[in-house]
Amino acid sequence: MNDTFLKACRGEEIEYTPVWLMRQAGRYLPQYKAVRADIDFLALCKNPRLAAEVTLQPVEILGVDAAILFSDILIPVEAMGMRLVFSDKQGPLLSEPIRNMSAVDKLMIPDVEEDMPFIIETIKLLRKELENKVPLIGFSGAPFTLATYMIEGGTSKNYLHTKKMMFQHSGVFNYLMEKLTLTVISYLTAQIKAGAQAIQIFDTWAGILAPVDYRELILPYVKKVVSELKKEKVPIIYFANNCAGILKDIKKTGADVIGIDWRIDIGDAVKKLGKKIVVQGNLDPSALFLPKEKIEERVKDILWKGEVAKGHIFNLGHGILPETSVENVIAMVEAVHKYSRDN
Ligand code: CP3
Repeated sequence: MNDTFLKACRGEEIEYTPVWLMRQAGRYLPQYKAVRADIDFLALCKNPRLAAEVTLQPVEILGVDAAILFSDILIPVEAMGMRLVFSDKQGPLLSEPIRNMSAVDKLMIPDVEEDMPFIIETIKLLRKELENKVPLIGFSGAPFTLATYMIEGGTSKNYLHTKKMMFQHSGVFNYLMEKLTLTVISYLTAQIKAGAQAIQIFDTWAGILAPVDYRELILPYVKKVVSELKKEKVPIIYFANNCAGILKDIKKTGADVIGIDWRIDIGDAVKKLGKKIVVQGNLDPSALFLPKEKIEERVKDILWKGEVAKGHIFNLGHGILPETSVENVIAMVEAVHKYSRDN
């Protein structure tokens, strides 16, 4: 198996910089769209054979160094008892958002085997199919990011319902965060036991917070998730979008790898994180719309600056955009492999 990605996560010596892309299975791939033409998104997430098929597509097409389980961060939220639909225009929608104690009270801590058996089955299928290829990454949303969807009922502009709960009803907020923390721990532990070889925790909305609020109200829960998962001995990647202002606090999560978005120079991020942490990132997803020579220049710049970290895994700074050209993505992956070997 190509274990360059896992070695990089552990900060070990590697021959070239491994690369994978957030949202690497998705609508920019005609092959994904062909599968999605006949099935809705949530049904696809719950169909192990098809979910495994779309997980493998980018591995074959792009030549990336890791596969990431095809699913969505909101799957466990549905299993906690909320009603979830995906709208083509508005993205995920959760009816009856969580706004008070009795709503939190009603939420269940799911039993993964019982309530999300398709996740376990997809991972097992994938491990068989990936045997001589690349490692499989499992994932979850971080407690705070999941809480924002549950409180807002979807994505939001100012996250005011969430912040009002944090600032005016901290008892309700903390109770929700505690339930989510337990859910995330059992969800990720089950993924690892089923065969996930690394874990990424997505904290997509952590960057909407003032550093003091991240530090006091969110970080303790992330630390708890990371410390519990460390028992399972697989690398843990923590990705927060818009992370520049909270990097020093993120360092305290205890994660093995820190994923960074593109709004910060990777060299500056390494300075803030120190040399004991592996970094992942951080090409602007829109940079894939540049001409190929310019993409190569951006890749080289990131490789060169990322080299001073304990280890570097190349990725985008956030998910790939549906309009992206597959040809440019392949050129990017090839550039990462080529120029990191020459370094
Ligand atoms: O990375 C991968 O290839 C694995 C699959 C994956 C998806 N979502 C598939 C998906 C992963 C890891 C996610 C995580 C996810 N989901 C996050 C965290 C990462 C991030 O992007 O910040 C979040 C916030 C979600 C919630 C979510 N799911 C939103 C807001 C949307 C709608 C926006 C959009 O891009 O359409 C989704 C839908 C979604 N998740 C799609 C895919 C492939 C598109 C659905 C479709 O096929 O129509």
